[in-house]
Amino acid sequence: SMKISQYEKIGKETLHNIIQAFYKRVKQHPDLAPIFPEDLTETARKQEQFLTQFLGGPPLYTAEHGHPRLRMRHLPFQITPKRANAWLSCMSAAMDEANFHGPEREEFFSRLVITAHHMVNTPDEKG
Ligand code: HEM
Repeated sequence: SMKISQYEKIGKETLHNIIQAFYKRVKQHPDLAPIFPEDLTETARKQEQFLTQFLGGPPLYTAEHGHPRLRMRHLPFQITPKRANAWLSCMSAAMDEANFHGPEREEFFSRLVITAHHMVNTPDEKG
């Protein structure tokens, strides 16, 4: 079909800018920084590969790393509802910084909300 992918609508450069702005925030977020590596270069590179294919672009992540099995790859980390919300708030701010607005943003972000909640594997701390 002639259907244009979300990836083509958003564009490689905007996606790259969103991801850079996102990890800059992750690095500074008190709930997220402790579970991420010090150097986020490789993490950002893998995320760009993953989100490219998530949005219907070339399957860059799978070509290098195999099937994403994202929930399984997150099991070594305690992903609480609080951390999922922190992840999403960093992403929303990153999209603002990259000047990414409109229906493409709404569609992309709503898919990330579903995926982030799917990664949750640990309850929030009590108290
Ligand atoms: C890897 C945390 C949600 C995609 C990681 C890593 C952490 C993490 C700590 C390991 C980083 C590294 O060692 O390089 C979280 C938290 C989330 C979350 C707290 C909150 C819900 C998501 C979502 C997506 C995603 C929603 C996709 C839309 C990835 C990918 C990797 C990754 C592609 C790299 C996997 C690999 O090593 O090949 N995440 N993540 N994550 N995350 Fe997440």
